[in-house]
Amino acid sequence: MSSDLTGGMVFIGAPGAGKGTQAKLVVEAHDVLHISTGDMLREHRTAGTELGREAQVFMDRGDLVPDDVMIAMVAERIQRSDAAKAWILDGFPRTLPQAEALDASLSESGTELRHVISFQVPQDELVQRLTARWTCSKCGEIWNVVSKPPSQAGVCDGCQAELTQRADDRPEAVMARLEVYRTQTEPLLGYFRARGVLREIEANRSPELVQKSLLDQLGEPAL
Ligand code: AP5
Ligand code: MG
Repeated sequence: MSSDLTGGMVFIGAPGAGKGTQAKLVVEAHDVLHISTGDMLREHRTAGTELGREAQVFMDRGDLVPDDVMIAMVAERIQRSDAAKAWILDGFPRTLPQAEALDASLSESGTELRHVISFQVPQDELVQRLTARWTCSKCGEIWNVVSKPPSQAGVCDGCQAELTQRADDRPEAVMARLEVYRTQTEPLLGYFRARGVLREIEANRSPELVQKSLLDQLGEPAL
C-alpha cells in the first residue's frame, strides 16, 4: 500500500467498534487527516467554549448533538487547507440529514467521497471494549486495559501523561449510545450501499488484522 490515499473516507461503526483506533493507525503511515467529530467536541469541552458546554449535555447522556451544529462544524473543517488531499471522517455522518449535507458540501467543492467503511462488531464485545477503554489526556492515544494495556497503569506510554475514562463510557450512557447508533446511524448503511461506496469490515479481530483488511479496501477503487 502506497501513501496515495486521496479524497474523502468515512468511518461508520457503533461506539467501541474501533473507528478511532483504526484511523490513528492509518494516519501513522499515510498522509491523511483524521477528523473525529467526537474528539472535536471533547476539545471544545476542555476549552470551555459555548459549543462545548451545549454539547456536554447531549454527549454525557449518550444522545447526538443536534444536526445543525454538527453539519456546520464539519463543513468548516473539511474546507481548511490541511484537508485538501485526503481525510477520514470518524463519527460523521450519523444521521440522514448529516449524510445529505455532506454530499451537498462535497459536490459543491468537487471532492470525491471514495469509501465509506462500516466496522462490524457484536454488541457484547462493544460493551466490554468501552468499559475497558482509557484515553491519554494529552496526546489522545487510545488504550484498553484488556486488549492494549499501557506499560504502567494509568499512564500513557508515548507522552507519560495521565490516562482518563470518558464520561460517556458509564454503562447507562453506553447502552443509550448503542441504541442511538442502531436507530439513527445504522440506516445510513443502506444509503451508502445504494451509492456504491460502502465497504463492510469484520472488526471483531485484532487491531492489526482489522487494519490490514481496511487498507486492502481503501486501496481498491469504489464498487
Ligand atoms: P465519538 O467520540 O465519535 O464516540 P462513538 O462513536 O460512540 O465511538 P467511540 O469513540 O466510543 O468508539 P470508537 O469506534 O472510536 O472505538 P475506539 O477506537 O476508541 O462520539 C461521542 C459523542 O459525541 C456522541 O455520543 C455524540 O454525543 C457526539 N457526536 C460525535 N459525532 C457526532 C455527530 N456526527 N452527530 C451528533 N453527535 C455527535 O475503541 C474502543 C476501545 O476498544 C478502546 O479501548 C480500544 O483500545 C479497543 N479496541 C479497538 N479496536 C479493538 C480491537 N480490534 N480489538 C480489541 N479491542 C479494540
Ligand atoms: Mg472514537
